[in-house]
Amino acid sequence: MSMAVRSARFVVSGWRGPLLLLFLVLVVTLVILHRVIQSPLLNQYEILHKHLERGGSSSSSSSISSTRSILLWNDFFGDPRWKLSWDTLGPQELREELHCPVYQCEVTNQHDFLPAVELYDAVVFHAAQMFPLLEQVPARRSPKQMYIFALMEPPGETKHRLDDEQGFYNLTMTYRLDSDVVWPYGQIVDIETGAVVAPNSNPSWRKPPVVAYNDTEIYDLWAGKSKMAAWFVSHCKTLSQREVLAERLQTYFQVDIYGKCGTLSCARGDPYCDEMLDTDYLFYLAFENSLCDDYVTEKLFDALRRNVIPVVFGGADYSRILPPHSYIDANRFETVSDLALYLDFVGGDATEYASYFWWRRHYRLGNSSPFCDLCARLHEPGFRHKSQSYNDIQSWWFNSCHLESHLKW
Ligand SMILES: *[C@@H]1O[C@H](CO)[C@@H](O)[C@H](O)[C@H]1NC(C)=O
Ligand SMILES: *[C@@H]1O[C@H](CO)[C@@H](O)[C@H](O)[C@H]1NC(C)=O
Repeated sequence: MSMAVRSARFVVSGWRGPLLLLFLVLVVTLVILHRVIQSPLLNQYEILHKHLERGGSSSSSSSISSTRSILLWNDFFGDPRWKLSWDTLGPQELREELHCPVYQCEVTNQHDFLPAVELYDAVVFHAAQMFPLLEQVPARRSPKQMYIFALMEPPGETKHRLDDEQGFYNLTMTYRLDSDVVWPYGQIVDIETGAVVAPNSNPSWRKPPVVAYNDTEIYDLWAGKSKMAAWFVSHCKTLSQREVLAERLQTYFQVDIYGKCGTLSCARGDPYCDEMLDTDYLFYLAFENSLCDDYVTEKLFDALRRNVIPVVFGGADYSRILPPHSYIDANRFETVSDLALYLDFVGGDATEYASYFWWRRHYRLGNSSPFCDLCARLHEPGFRHKSQSYNDIQSWWFNSCHLESHLKW
């Protein structure tokens, strides 16, 4: 009995060697086979397919399968939702509420939405504010993550120490047209094609008509307008010295100054203030507080919604932002007196005045969410394989401004 067991054991252990060998051979063969099957020689389509599925490419939305996650690190001027409607938006909200063409993203301000902070594909920092006191920056960072410098204030208003953050950011998201993700204060959309025409560094505009633009509404309003220019302003002393320009203009005609820096007041959001622009004023002064590339504020876009001509003063090349002949750019004049003379001429001639509204037949104002563009960007071809960062974010940001305008006071 015990003999039989022992010999059976012997038989088994005698088999063990060759069995192990066979097993090893089998494993090696399988590995080689797997390698061969997975090799680009035999398998290029499959590899490409997987790459596309990972989001390695693509223009066609069907190949965008995996969702990218975006964490909003700090708040946006006290708004933890950055003007979005929820704390967390998924692909459905991006598609239905924001109308994003590429919507396979999650945007959240909940730091624990994913189990670890290095799992987010992108972390957005609002750089016009201090970072959260308790946790200034994420404790861990993955080299695959994109840290995003998001800012809507001009450099003079960036209340943040950027020289501590050299080499920190991978992408920029600002109003500047050379940002990785452009976040404008407003957009001009072609009514016929639905395409966003501007802001753009080289927009293709329709030409203003040569024949007089005949808009009876504008003609009627023009006839009732009795005041020259309105200016709504709350920062009285600025880098651009717009206050000096306004003061000089006042030697030619009356500029009504509403807000902290003037004698008149009109509550923000009061519909009467807007209507007054239609009925009383010929011009609306849209003077920026800093002379910086591409910098124009939303006030300008607000003015374009009214029946009043904006007189702009800023550092932007306005032809990248607004349709031709829809505004009067102070920087196009040699002197303040030339500007004042021209405003008198346009304000005094109904046909000339109305001609500044030609664009309304072809364009409308639009605004799309920067998070749509960011989402699209995170799905761009090669996103996971390319690495970039801003080694000197401070120069990138600050070098876009100048202190003096071309206009002579
Ligand atoms: C403008 O159009 C109106 C009708 O819409 C017409 O009565 C008027 O004569 C036109 N004016 C000019 C200058 O073409
Ligand atoms: C982002 O920037 C950091 C710091 O410069 C760098 O280590 C990382 O590789 C960059 N990531 C990407 C995805 O570009």
